[in-house]
Amino acid sequence: MAFLSDTLARVKPSPTIAVTNKARELAEAGRDVIGLGAGEPDFDTPAHIKAAAVAAIEAGRTKYTAVDGIPELKKAICAKFERENGLSYKPSQITVASGGKQVLYNALVATLNPGDEVIIPAPYWVSYPDMVLLAGGTPVFVEGRMEAGYKISAEALEAAITPQTKWVIFNSPSNPSGAAYTRDELKALTDVLLRHPHVWVMSDDMYEHLVFGGFEFTTPAQVEPGLYDRTLTCNGVSKAYAMTGWRIGYAGGPEVLIKAMAKVQSQSTSNPCSISQYAAVAALNGPQDYITESRVAFERRRDLVVAALNTCPGISCPVPEGAFYVYPSIAGLIGKTSAAGVKITDDETFATALLEETGVAVVFGAAFGLSPAFRISYATSDAALVDACARIKSFCEGLK
Ligand SMILES: Cc1ncc(COP(=O)(O)O)c(C=O)c1O
Repeated sequence: MAFLSDTLARVKPSPTIAVTNKARELAEAGRDVIGLGAGEPDFDTPAHIKAAAVAAIEAGRTKYTAVDGIPELKKAICAKFERENGLSYKPSQITVASGGKQVLYNALVATLNPGDEVIIPAPYWVSYPDMVLLAGGTPVFVEGRMEAGYKISAEALEAAITPQTKWVIFNSPSNPSGAAYTRDELKALTDVLLRHPHVWVMSDDMYEHLVFGGFEFTTPAQVEPGLYDRTLTCNGVSKAYAMTGWRIGYAGGPEVLIKAMAKVQSQSTSNPCSISQYAAVAALNGPQDYITESRVAFERRRDLVVAALNTCPGISCPVPEGAFYVYPSIAGLIGKTSAAGVKITDDETFATALLEETGVAVVFGAAFGLSPAFRISYATSDAALVDACARIKSFCEGLK
């Protein structure tokens, strides 16, 4: 009898963690490494949020709480959905978990049976397919090509739907491409879903606030109220308020689903950290200046990185609408040989040679299901970005 489960065998280790480990090894060996792999804001959590956490500790709010969130936080989340997304949810339609990741995982575990399919647009966040597999479902990919701004078409979505489709996962702005759907583009997709009433919508709005150039963020249940009864609108404080380590994610959706998710959580991790929940109340109800300030910084960095990458021979980098990632194509580099004699056969050999020869750590596109490309997270200082882009340029210029 095998000790490890068959389910585990279907899941692959995180490629983004592998890149981070390799970069760390090189840095420990004394190499000058610039890590562009991490998916978290480089800013500190705003002071008033930290103060709320300290106050919660001092007030003794350090015990178990209701499994899927304290009433104050659920109320703050309802107000946020109303204020920012025009969505009305009652507290009984809200769930809070230990990060956006757990929200998605709870929903999948609570709903998937063997044979159930989940449509995932590619390039996708690395965790979606593996979470679906862990929950016993089958991921089905729909490609958003670079020429289409890494967005999927209504026709491609419709073609992927079968009687076994249970969910479609939307992620706009996207990790890894930064692509965000306009209201009209989203409407074209929600029109398709209206015709398939057995399909539910999981909207991962984690990067909602990081949209640039006046782009209007919208979410499926807002664009198409006809989908409200089968949409889980997922969000969190991790990226919006530089709170990745606090582990608070949340969602609004139909009560039947919210209750099922609480059941999963009650038998696994129970409530998210009590102190972090009070901090999240302060984040959602308090001043929102951090959002604007970080947006300005990230937009400046996006422009800097896109412009620099497009001067590298063989690299083509579209301008993403949001998040803090760019996803350039390296189609023009395949088949070439690096200065150190490494043949670039795919995006993984590119990323490995780039790291070994220049010390710049990026994540290869195959990890996100669309090749040949790579992801840069520009959530780091402008100086590090300028240096990294110069190194990438000289690497490309050295290819024969
Ligand atoms: C698209 C997307 N969804 C969800 C998450 C998870 O966020 P959290 O750190 O709150 O679990 C991430 C984090 O990288 C993400 O990129």
